[in-house]
Amino acid sequence: MRPIEWLGGRLKLLNQTELPHKEQYLDTSNYRQVIIAIKQLKVRGAPAIGIATAYGIALAGLEIKAADKASYIKQLDLIFKQFAAARPTAVNLFYAIDRMRQAVKSKNTVPAMREALLKTAATVHRQEDRAMAALSKHGAALIEDGFTVLTHCNTGQLATGVRYGTALGMIKAAAEQGKSISVYADETRPLLQGSRLTAWELSRLHIPFTLITDNMAGYFLNKGNIDCVVVGADRIAANGDTANKIGTYSLAVLAKENHVPFYIAAPTSSIDVSLKSGASIPIEQRSPQEVLKLQGVDIAPRGVHAANPSFDVTPAKYIAAIVTEKGIIRPPFKAGIQSILEEAR
Ligand code: MRU
Repeated sequence: MRPIEWLGGRLKLLNQTELPHKEQYLDTSNYRQVIIAIKQLKVRGAPAIGIATAYGIALAGLEIKAADKASYIKQLDLIFKQFAAARPTAVNLFYAIDRMRQAVKSKNTVPAMREALLKTAATVHRQEDRAMAALSKHGAALIEDGFTVLTHCNTGQLATGVRYGTALGMIKAAAEQGKSISVYADETRPLLQGSRLTAWELSRLHIPFTLITDNMAGYFLNKGNIDCVVVGADRIAANGDTANKIGTYSLAVLAKENHVPFYIAAPTSSIDVSLKSGASIPIEQRSPQEVLKLQGVDIAPRGVHAANPSFDVTPAKYIAAIVTEKGIIRPPFKAGIQSILEEAR
């Protein structure tokens, strides 16, 4: 499966809003279409958003007409702004913009800048592929033979655009090592990334799983059915506080209450040390219509008020470990994150 594919001047994206019913691809050379795809969650999941952003900027770089470096950079800055406004929480989007901004700095001609953007987008994709494979391998050590793992949202190939994933990557790697693993997958209201996407990926991987609604997690944690909880991250602050799909915080509290380890799996591109704590992580507020409708069908009376924060922040005190491509970080996270990032540089 290739959810994100560069076709040399064109970007092919698996439209995740049509899954699991249709495997439909968006094939575009227009960067505006890539921004719309990110906004509409056709491509979603923090690392996948970052990779699509890098390729989207490379497409824009091919389109920009400029006589000199100054004019090219001026137009490119406007493109960066448009991508930055697509979704606020996943820091991978801003990481990708930064990489692309750095890429053109040392180049002096328009063709050289175009070339640098194309090369850097491919490098971001390749590095994320390696990072996800490495973190999946590290994380698989936390999943013992016979474990039942609870997960939330979708964190596999679809969410990362590469061969492995984050939380789901760990599960896949553990299964590949021959461990017998089973999964409880939260459906993940309001947009059902769990039931539409995680269930689709787990079925293809032939990993046994049980789909549950989000509000059933406490029941199964309390009954002792779950050995560990593993989720991904959209942004990890310097102290380890982690923003992830709405509902993650409740899961972490329930896990702690029931003495079940709660793990975060994320590449270092999801870490934002410019933020001291999770309190400063911007939380995307999406349309209330996503709560008022289920797959396009009204599920509340007309005129009802609804809220729709797309992410929440789990305080570091609930997290037993953060799994990255550089290894597993245990509390206290501030020092562990710092030293892992130094090693990554
Ligand atoms: O709104 P989404 O579907 O983009 O949210 C995705 C998540 O919350 C994932 O858990 C997160 O990006 C980490 S997965 C690689």
